[in-house]
Amino acid sequence: MDGTAYPGVYREGRELYTINARPGVRVSGEALTRDGDTEFRHWDPFRSKLAAYLLKGPRPPTFEGVRSVLYLGASHGTTASHLSDLLPEARIFAIEKSPRSFAPLLRLARQRSNLLPILADAQLPERYAADVGLVDLLYQDVAQRGQARIFTENASACLRRGGRGLLMLKVRSVSQSLSAREVVADAREELLARRLTVGAPVDLAPFSREHLALPVVG
Ligand SMILES: C[S@@+](CC[C@H](N)C(=O)[O-])C[C@H]1O[C@@H](n2cnc3c(N)ncnc32)[C@H](O)[C@@H]1O
Repeated sequence: MDGTAYPGVYREGRELYTINARPGVRVSGEALTRDGDTEFRHWDPFRSKLAAYLLKGPRPPTFEGVRSVLYLGASHGTTASHLSDLLPEARIFAIEKSPRSFAPLLRLARQRSNLLPILADAQLPERYAADVGLVDLLYQDVAQRGQARIFTENASACLRRGGRGLLMLKVRSVSQSLSAREVVADAREELLARRLTVGAPVDLAPFSREHLALPVVG
């Protein structure tokens, strides 16, 4: 197993792995593999936009010095579990609004003390901002209308100055008629209007079609 530019993320051939914080336990049926005394969990870029971003994006020091994360749209926790593996010292607040998805997320969090799930609507950050405080990393994957607005409101409420953000933008959830380029341009404008610095978009194809990642600095 080889290291990568991202501390805590490993590679064998083209496949990504994190060190399993709960050896012997799978989160979503992923492959487990041993190298010496260490157990690694396969991180599937077709199931996790963050893994796709790491494979496709430039080399941002996204996880450097990250002690707290606000994760919007955690679902069952597939991606959040890998963040939990690679940021053992961080507190990862995982927001999910669907009670159905929240149940497995809660079960996962019982096994991972750095994962802190909150059943809430990301459109209402005022409901959880006091519990979350200011975070180093804001990650959003909610696939609904108004994604840029949700991101900016959470950034205003919870992202520390100079903190990092990653907005996984689902083009077709924003508009059926606008092109990807137009959707990105609108999102970018909305983020810039809130004084966020926005990097170049990264197309997540072929791993995740119709998704672009927008790296942001608060
Ligand atoms: C594409 S899935 C997320 C997958 C997850 N990020 C992963 O990689 O493991 C989108 C999730 O966002 C949740 N969601 C959508 N709108 C939301 C909102 N306003 N607040 C919180 N969660 C939301 C959905 O219930 C769904 O579970």
